[in-house]
Amino acid sequence: MKVVVLLGAPGAGKGTQAPLLADRLRIPVVATGDLFRAAVRDQTPLGTQAKGYMDAGQLVPDEITIALLLDRLSQPDAARGVILDGFPRTRVQAQALDSALAERDASVAVAVLVEVPAEELVRRLSGRWICRAAGHPYHEVSSPPRVAGRCDIDGSELYQRPDDQPETIRARMAQQLGALDEVIAHYREADLLRAVDGLQPVDTVAAAVATVVDAAGIDR
Ligand code: AP5
Ligand code: MG
Repeated sequence: MKVVVLLGAPGAGKGTQAPLLADRLRIPVVATGDLFRAAVRDQTPLGTQAKGYMDAGQLVPDEITIALLLDRLSQPDAARGVILDGFPRTRVQAQALDSALAERDASVAVAVLVEVPAEELVRRLSGRWICRAAGHPYHEVSSPPRVAGRCDIDGSELYQRPDDQPETIRARMAQQLGALDEVIAHYREADLLRAVDGLQPVDTVAAAVATVVDAAGIDR
């Protein structure tokens, strides 16, 4: 089972890079933010629980998030491996992932940190539009869609995430970056952390991510 963790601050480009890497490795992306947004949209009990935290820019409690992730990992399409986007976000989540993988005789192969300075994160999030069907990300200045308001890939409508309002962006930065540092430390201690410069164009970042994933010995 190949498990690649994509780490980065809100807006670093995890959701942009994850599908590119998924094509390369031919394993699915599991993005807890996308799973939570689908639950909110479908008004499930999980969505009702998660919504308040997401709207406030806070992390959803570990217990809820870990249960969601473990359920997703147990689905058949995850058996060969996954690219994790947005999980783990706390040290407790990282430890829960390690234990769940150990039960399958597996482990995280590499944790790729996409590094982007804070001022650029705010610019990226405040100009982001994503598609309703699959969450494909666009940026109104740096990567606009070919047809305004429509996804290039699936033609679905583009919208702005409610947590991309300026006040919530500030809350996400203030409340989540400390936990990210703990997760970075967790993987650094295990010598699994590899950083890439996320300030370069999307394709250049993708090539850098591919290089570190190849160097970690993950075959395609
Ligand atoms: P989540 O959906 O994971 O959001 P996030 O971590 O805040 O990250 P984003 O999705 O905002 O950014 P991204 O890194 O994917 O950037 P993107 O590629 O879109 O989580 C949302 C919420 O759910 C959390 O706040 C929390 O409440 C909850 N949650 C989720 N997981 C959880 C967990 N494990 N535990 C607890 N709670 C959890 O790119 C951003 C923009 O930049 C786009 O416009 C894009 O086009 C542009 N861009 C990307 N790359 C480049 C580039 N190289 N150059 C120029 N522009 C670029
Ligand atoms: Mg994302």
